Amino acid sequence: MTAPLRSANDAQPTVPELNRRRLLGLAAAVPLTALPGWSSAQTSTFTPNVGQQGKDVIWVPTPDALVNRMLRMAQVTSNDFVVDLGSGDGKIVIAAARDFKARSLGVEFNADMVGLSRRNAQAAGVDQLARFEQGDIFTFDFTQATVVTMYLLPGLNLKLRPQLLRMRPGTRLVTHQFTMGSWEPDDSSNVENRPGYLWIVPAPVGGGWKMTTTDSAGAREATVRFTQAFQQVGGTVTMGTMDARIRAPRLSGDLLSFELMDERGTLRSYSGRVAGDRIEGNTRAVDGSEGRFFATRTGPGTPVDGGRD
Ligand SMILES: C[S@@+](CC[C@H](N)C(=O)[O-])C[C@H]1O[C@@H](n2cnc3c(N)ncnc32)[C@H](O)[C@@H]1O
Repeated sequence: MTAPLRSANDAQPTVPELNRRRLLGLAAAVPLTALPGWSSAQTSTFTPNVGQQGKDVIWVPTPDALVNRMLRMAQVTSNDFVVDLGSGDGKIVIAAARDFKARSLGVEFNADMVGLSRRNAQAAGVDQLARFEQGDIFTFDFTQATVVTMYLLPGLNLKLRPQLLRMRPGTRLVTHQFTMGSWEPDDSSNVENRPGYLWIVPAPVGGGWKMTTTDSAGAREATVRFTQAFQQVGGTVTMGTMDARIRAPRLSGDLLSFELMDERGTLRSYSGRVAGDRIEGNTRAVDGSEGRFFATRTGPGTPVDGGRD
C-alpha cells in the first residue's frame, strides 16, 4: 500500500515523497508541452500531469533521447518483443515499434494512461505492433518478453529481480536511472545526465557438471564445479589427478566461455551454449587445434543470484 504523501512543509518527508522528489527532480528540465507524441493525439478530456500519482510510483516520462539509447543498448530488432513495465504515456513502447519495428507491449496500472497510450500509438501509426494493457506489473505475466524496459524505483526493481532472473537467458533488461542492487549492469550509458543501464539475464550454471572434451588427443572426462553470482562465474575442474581453476570465465545470457589448462600443460579455450542441464560447444587449443565439449549437470543448481541481496 502506498503511504500518503506529506505536504512540502513537513520536516520529515516520507519515502514515497522522497521518491517523488527524486523522479520529479529528473523531470524538471522537461516542459510538459515539449513531451512528444501525446499533445496532438489527445482527443479525450484526460490530461496527464508529470508527477501524478501511480500505484507504486508516480508518472515521469523518460526523455526521447534516453528512450532511443535504452533501446539501442538492448539492441532491439524486429525479432524482439519489448515490454515496458509501467508504461506511462506509452512512449517507450511506441518508439520500439516505430523506430525498431519490434512488437511491443506496455503494462500500465492507470486506465486513463492506457487509453492515452493507445491513441498515441494510433497517431504514430504503430497500433498494430504496439499494444497496451491495463494491469499491475507485479501480477502481469511478461515472461514472453525478449526485452524488458523499466523506469520504476530501486525497491521495485529489486522486488521484480527474482522474476527477471527466471526469464529466458539472454533476455535484455534496460532501466532508466535505477539499478538492481548487487546485480552489476552489463552496460551503462548517460544521456543528458540521465543514466540508463543494461542487464542480460544469465543462464543458471552454478553447481556440479560432468564434462567430456573430445579433440585430437582423444576423449577426456572432467568434473566441473561452477560458482555463480548473476553473470559473474568462476569454477574448478578435476581432470584425472589434476585440479585446476578455470581462467577468464565469461557468461553472457546462455553463452559461456572459459580457458582451461589440461594435465599436459595445453591451454584451451572453451566456448559453449547453456541449454538447461546441458552445455555444448567448441574448444580451441593455443596451437589452433579444435575440438568439442559437452557437459551435463550432476546435481542441483545453485541460486543464480549467488545468495546476494
Ligand atoms: C516513472 S513512470 C515511467 C513511464 C514510462 N515507462 C517512461 O519511462 O516514460 C512509471 C509508470 O508506472 C506506472 N505504475 C506505477 N505502479 C504500477 C504498477 N504496480 N503496475 C503498473 N503500472 C504502474 C505509473 O502509473 C507510471 O505511469
